[in-house]
Amino acid sequence: MKMPNLMESKKRGQSKVEIIRDDFVLDDSLKKIGKDKKYYIKTYGCQMNLRDSESFKALLEEMSYTATDNYEDADILLLNTCAIRENVHNKVFGMLGRIKHLKGKKPNIIVGLAGCMSQEEVVVEKILKKYKWMDFVIGTHNMHRLPQVIDEAIKKRGLEVEVWSKEGDIIENVPVKRDSKYKAWVNIMYGCDKFCTYCIVPYTRGKQRSRMPEDIIKEVKELVSDGYKEVTLLGQNVNAYGKDFANLKYNMSNLLEDVSKTGIERIRFVTSHPWDFTDDMIEVIKQNKNIMPYFHLPIQSGSDKVLKLMGRRYNRQSYLELFNKIKKAIRNATITTDIIVGFPNETEEDFKETLDIVDECKFDGAYTFIYSPRAGTPAAKMQDNLSLMEKEERLQRLNALVNKYSRLSNEKLLNQTVPVLIEGYSEKGNDTLMGYTDTFKLVNVVGDKKHIGKIVNVEITDVKSWSLNGRVVDAD
Ligand code: SAH
Ligand code: SF4
Ligand code: F3S
Repeated sequence: MKMPNLMESKKRGQSKVEIIRDDFVLDDSLKKIGKDKKYYIKTYGCQMNLRDSESFKALLEEMSYTATDNYEDADILLLNTCAIRENVHNKVFGMLGRIKHLKGKKPNIIVGLAGCMSQEEVVVEKILKKYKWMDFVIGTHNMHRLPQVIDEAIKKRGLEVEVWSKEGDIIENVPVKRDSKYKAWVNIMYGCDKFCTYCIVPYTRGKQRSRMPEDIIKEVKELVSDGYKEVTLLGQNVNAYGKDFANLKYNMSNLLEDVSKTGIERIRFVTSHPWDFTDDMIEVIKQNKNIMPYFHLPIQSGSDKVLKLMGRRYNRQSYLELFNKIKKAIRNATITTDIIVGFPNETEEDFKETLDIVDECKFDGAYTFIYSPRAGTPAAKMQDNLSLMEKEERLQRLNALVNKYSRLSNEKLLNQTVPVLIEGYSEKGNDTLMGYTDTFKLVNVVGDKKHIGKIVNVEITDVKSWSLNGRVVDAD
């Protein structure tokens, strides 16, 4: 049993990060465990978790499990969880309640917890007390050991907990089964060293470790030759890419340039911390047409006082300067953001400054959240002096404004023709297709199935607050 420890995961030592490039081979005994059995994975949280789940799928398939969409049919159920806000915890424990019921009827099913919640002491302690019927808990740093942990749990016939609090090495060659044939997530770094005072990620994902440029470029080149059209470079703050290299001077603008040279048709990256966004990056993006004109630039608050309490390292003024620089340099650039309301000590005045900066930036879209205290973070010790009602009321006011600008941004595209990578069928049914514009706007498209997997010109015929409708024009 290896338990998580928040104090340990906070430490940032000088220890060298090893890069393991060995071929990933499973023991023959592990390869048969899932024969004639089915797996079900539910993923919560950010793109990094979606990408990790693609590796969990590949690992389970190497163990001979096959996929099912119905959790009630599964022999093994894995919840890949997120710790960012309390409401995700509630959803996960709600799901575990339903699974417990299922396990009552099918005692042989195996139930596991993975992802960021596994790294939290409070969560694992709760599981040990009240969810002892579960089979395993696996952490984010040892996720590649899923087959061994499952094997242990089966042999032990009891709850197996294997969570490392110190970040692991960088393991290349962990297998992956990608959800899409056209667009792919590519990790460029793990962890985060920013320690914004409200955020749990530096504890659940460990210290910043950048992958070597050659490993990233090799992965993108393989994706190009497999017919992929788009890559999204992933990290919690990708603009700090390379800052942790000991003997190599290579940063995010160098990486963007080299990824651009692979010839992949579309490059995106998330998430950009405003603090590390350099002029060199803007220049490279401007020069290379395959880097998409879309930026997710979380602001969190419009009040300098609150930004300081959050430990964000920029202020209203410097954010605005960066925002305007990007808009000026890159034609058509869209910029979306994240905003937290109800941070400790946020006054009505502070909140009005947030509304005010939204009015000024007219964001193309925004994800808005009520502050959620995370055990072990500095902000959790600050006095939370607002009632939930006040926080909800602020969120509603903010959302009304955010929706207004999102719609305005979409309206600019009405009757315009824009490039869309058609990804497949839309949830709307009726053979409607769906895809994203270069500026990362979701479009439901009238077209033909032969367009799937291609970047085609789409005329926008109707706009909503959060999506567009259109039809394919002048494609073969
Ligand atoms: N690394 C990214 C953010 C990742 S988390 C960045 O720094 O930009 C995604 C978003 O969740 C954050 O931008 C923030 O708005 C929100 N968030 C993080 N911690 C939160 C908390 N404790 N309560 C509410 N929202 C939070
Ligand atoms: Fe969290 Fe800040 Fe790191 Fe983003 S940059 S993951 S908000 S600590
Ligand atoms: Fe959530 Fe972990 Fe991502 S906390 S947002 S799944 S890094």
